[in-house]
Amino acid sequence: MSEEPLTLNQVRKNAKAKMKGICGVFGVCDGEPNRICQGNSYGKPLGFGGIGSGESFANNSRALKAIRLKMNLISEHFIPDTNYNFFGHELAMPIMGGSVSGVNSFGGDKVITEVDFCNAVIQGCKLAGSIGWRGDTYSYKLACPYGLNAIAESDGSGVKIVKPREQEVIKEYFKCAEQSKVYAVGIDIDGFGSYMMAKHNCPVFRKNQKELKELVQSTTLPVILKGIMTVEDALMAVKTGASAIVVSNHGGRVLDCTPGTASVLAEIVKTVDGKIKILVDGGVRTGFDVLKMLALGAEAVLIGRDIVRAAIGGGSRGVQLQMEYLQKDLAKAMLMTGVRSLQDITPVLLMK
Ligand SMILES: Cc1cc2nc3c(=O)[nH]c(=O)nc-3n(C[C@H](O)[C@H](O)[C@H](O)COP(=O)(O)O)c2cc1C
Repeated sequence: MSEEPLTLNQVRKNAKAKMKGICGVFGVCDGEPNRICQGNSYGKPLGFGGIGSGESFANNSRALKAIRLKMNLISEHFIPDTNYNFFGHELAMPIMGGSVSGVNSFGGDKVITEVDFCNAVIQGCKLAGSIGWRGDTYSYKLACPYGLNAIAESDGSGVKIVKPREQEVIKEYFKCAEQSKVYAVGIDIDGFGSYMMAKHNCPVFRKNQKELKELVQSTTLPVILKGIMTVEDALMAVKTGASAIVVSNHGGRVLDCTPGTASVLAEIVKTVDGKIKILVDGGVRTGFDVLKMLALGAEAVLIGRDIVRAAIGGGSRGVQLQMEYLQKDLAKAMLMTGVRSLQDITPVLLMK
């Protein structure tokens, strides 16, 4: 990146130019059917949108939009505290860069290379006082672990998510992750629905409880299971000994017609009853969305598409600006709803 973008608006403008025909970089990324990315669905390459009709992607935003916040005003003034402890590591916010991978989905090497993309996410999140997660796709090999390299170069500040590949392959990835000193590892257990893995004949599988338990026990790192959308799967995840789950429908990219994550989160939180850490992603675009997810019971959120756009539009500086914007927006949302710290965020803040 020759010129350092100074504002988030500039970053978005750059991304819009580079992602022409792939993503319109609209003010709000909501997956509605008239969006460029959604026009790529139904028989065309998945691109940046959602699978099939695109409803699962759009439902994430719709579910968040349907929730209202209570404005609580009268008290002494305070500065909201957004600090968050993630597996013993202090972060400036309960917001992390999501495990998005595969530049082919957003324009290929001409737009950004996988190496630059991974570095931008990991370094940009770190500059903002948070961390980035890295995903896994058909082009990732143990011998060429883009995401792990980026995390290793950043002193381990990141999370590595592996696709549900063969058991022994996942264990090898976990061993490499231990050497890279990552904060945690995980599996996107919904990843056997991946369009890209299928297109490139990369074997991915459903995993049963016993197999997941074996993976959890194979590493000294905390293990995260990403892609939970039902109370049944959440309860089985608890039994595997995993340290956390991510309530996620993969940004609406693996199964058509799912509800939005904000619609299923509260019931999962209630049923799991504190037995496992719960994170969430899907359609989170503002600090107000973050506050809603936390009030529904998640401990932290992940940002997918907005982090991609920020990396494309401004490299690590773009990602830093995006994350700082979200942190400030969350602080504003907390101030206006009368909550001083993350611990004070409860469902009482929400109205239907
Ligand atoms: C282009 C693209 C690629 C993705 N690749 C991965 C991946 O490799 N691993 C993974 O766990 N999730 C992947 N995801 C899903 C994201 O991690 C996340 O669940 C989702 O994007 C969150 O929704 P949002 O984009 O609305 O914020 C991908 C999403 C997109 C849009």
